Amino acid sequence: MSDKLTCPLCGQKIDFTLVHHLRDEHKVEPETFRQQFPDKPIHSIGFTGFIKSSEVRKLGDILHYKLDVAGTRMTARHGVDHPLIPISDPTFVWTDPCQDVAEAIEHNERAFIYGPSGTGKSSLVRQIAAITKRPVRRVSLNGETSVSDFIGHWTVNDQRQTVFVNGILPAAMMEGHILQLDEVDAMQPEIGFILQQVLEPNGHLLLTDTGEDIHPHPDFRIVATANTLGFGSDSGLYSSGTHVLNFSWLDRWDVVVHIDYLPADQEVDLLRARHASLKKDLLTCLVTAAGDLRRAHAEEQLSTTITTRRLLALCSRLERGNEFARALATTVLNKVPPEDRKVIGETFDHHVGPLSKS
Ligand SMILES: Nc1ncnc2c1ncn2[C@@H]1O[C@H](COP(=O)(O)OP(=O)(O)O)[C@@H](O)[C@H]1O
Ligand SMILES: [Mg+2]
Repeated sequence: MSDKLTCPLCGQKIDFTLVHHLRDEHKVEPETFRQQFPDKPIHSIGFTGFIKSSEVRKLGDILHYKLDVAGTRMTARHGVDHPLIPISDPTFVWTDPCQDVAEAIEHNERAFIYGPSGTGKSSLVRQIAAITKRPVRRVSLNGETSVSDFIGHWTVNDQRQTVFVNGILPAAMMEGHILQLDEVDAMQPEIGFILQQVLEPNGHLLLTDTGEDIHPHPDFRIVATANTLGFGSDSGLYSSGTHVLNFSWLDRWDVVVHIDYLPADQEVDLLRARHASLKKDLLTCLVTAAGDLRRAHAEEQLSTTITTRRLLALCSRLERGNEFARALATTVLNKVPPEDRKVIGETFDHHVGPLSKS
């Protein structure tokens, strides 16, 4: 849209719409302008088309419009600023299952996202929120989050009064934020119990401390991420921290989405986007080696696996000029059990080694 309009009051050429120009320069409201110049357009044709096709509308003080996110039509807010709105990452790679999560957030379905560690589950929720400008409260339920962090607790304020401070759950419900529950498969049973009432259809939260009954704001959303579906870990990789979730609890989630490692070519694209100075050949070899190791892990020949997060960490070290063996040791090998170290080292050597000789 490069269409310009001429302001009939001053002759200046203005892009897309005269509304701001009239208000700022001439102190004229659009209604007054329309009465004064009934034949003059206030918006360009392209801009009018954009407003229609994007279903732009004002709700309260905020402009809402529609846009495509991962193939789903979502509602975004224009120009809102909030410290909990994540920053968008232009290198984020959108894959097919992302569409299901976007649809769930748009239509207020409770989404349970599961898949191996480091595959972008947490990032996905944040990226959808960044594009649509929704604040996200993220909580990791890996055992470190106490019930009082989650629900709230009593404290004494500056005026020496005893007051109840809302925890993450009631705050997200009241303020209409996305509540991102990471690692729900490692959640303490008490937290599962509390969530149960919120996950009911028309769920609400009765704060037993204060007697307050909290009904969710219409924009409140709840998304869980986990490594396992909650039936225990098949691979054994996550078994130490994960609890077997109870079926009726799991059944309360409207949609379950499986996110796996990126397809190889997309994983190479991601590494290239983040580490542009590294050669494509090298990145392809890293991804091929990771693919072999993930297969070995799936076939239970290896107790650990190589996540996208590990590959990114390795690339950061390589980009700073670290020698390959040293970078691999610090970002990958030193993290894995000794029995996996040899196989992982040899697999990378097998794929990356020939590059250094060519
Ligand atoms: N599809 C993707 N696009 C961009 N970055 C990704 C993608 N998948 C994983 N990553 C990167 O890998 C790292 C781990 O992602 P994260 O969302 O924490 O994974 P998970 O929650 O599945 O463990 C982050 O640096 C993230 O940016
Ligand atoms: Mg995560």
